[in-house]
Amino acid sequence: MTNTIISGPHPLSRPRRNRKNDWSRRMVRENILSTDDLIWPVFVQDGENQEIEIPSMPGVFRRSIDKLIPEIEKAAKLGIPAIALFPQTPQNLKTNDGREAINSGNIVCRATKAIKNAVPEIGIICDIALDPYTSHGQDGIVVDGYVVNDQTVEILVKQALVLTEAGCDILAPSDMMDGRIGAIRMALEDNNFHNTQIMAYAAKYASAFYGPFRDAVGSSSNIKSGGKQSYQMDPANTDEAIREVMMDIQQGADMIIVKPGMPYLDIIQRVTSELAFPTYAYQVSGEYAMLHAAAQNGWLDLDKVMMESLLAFKRAGASGIWTYFAPKVAALL
Ligand code: PBG
Repeated sequence: MTNTIISGPHPLSRPRRNRKNDWSRRMVRENILSTDDLIWPVFVQDGENQEIEIPSMPGVFRRSIDKLIPEIEKAAKLGIPAIALFPQTPQNLKTNDGREAINSGNIVCRATKAIKNAVPEIGIICDIALDPYTSHGQDGIVVDGYVVNDQTVEILVKQALVLTEAGCDILAPSDMMDGRIGAIRMALEDNNFHNTQIMAYAAKYASAFYGPFRDAVGSSSNIKSGGKQSYQMDPANTDEAIREVMMDIQQGADMIIVKPGMPYLDIIQRVTSELAFPTYAYQVSGEYAMLHAAAQNGWLDLDKVMMESLLAFKRAGASGIWTYFAPKVAALL
């Protein structure tokens, strides 16, 4: 946006006039964070009565379904529109092809059904990717050290259908395989799931900021076969993000994600200003860990940096934010 009215020289124009009082600052405020902007990612595991804090993510727990439900009820009461489910798969169920992903009795499907039943008013987002289910920790099938695309997409399509049948509202493919949005969209249409939403991780970068997340789902120690650079994006690129997002929109995505969040605000701004499509920022585990680590040292005020970091996403143009802070923020708002 360009300003057509140029402000006058000092002292005709004193920008501090509008800033003097709180009421005035509120009047000219351009962006507001609301509870409607929040998506809460949660970790779910097998068993009963389990509630384990993730060491690198203070205040974030991996819970069994029975312990998770009351937390989701609280989130719904606070007005959080949607949660995103991430499973920890028992080690003995992990395979090279991640076939547990398409087991309709897996932990995410069971959690989805239980949450739909107990808290029908909250939206459920499920991740599409194989990394919680593969023995090597890659998001797809590995053949000769390479994550193969089309064979992986075939399994992802099955995973999408299994999750939709379990009651998932929004599928969120985070795998970065080529063509998966179109393949999933057509499979949904063919199976009469015309209203299942897809929120595509369209611009997902090969980032070191995902470290704590991999602890939480128990996939970090397994990622031996190199990183994820052969499918996730190069942090050096921005034009490529626009192309990735355009492709996912053309293939049938309803919303898109830029990930990570704060180090990639420029991408969010470019995507939202150039493509004007519902765009979500993912404030990832490493960003959450950083803010907490500094706060624990007494170096930063946690509540303040939390709110400021989330407002920054709104300013950049995001429609909403995936954040582990969601319940804390909703309570403060
Ligand atoms: C899995 C997935 C990852 C995250 C969300 N989905 C990890 C990865 O790609 O290695 C990261 C979330 C976070 O760090 O908070 N495909």
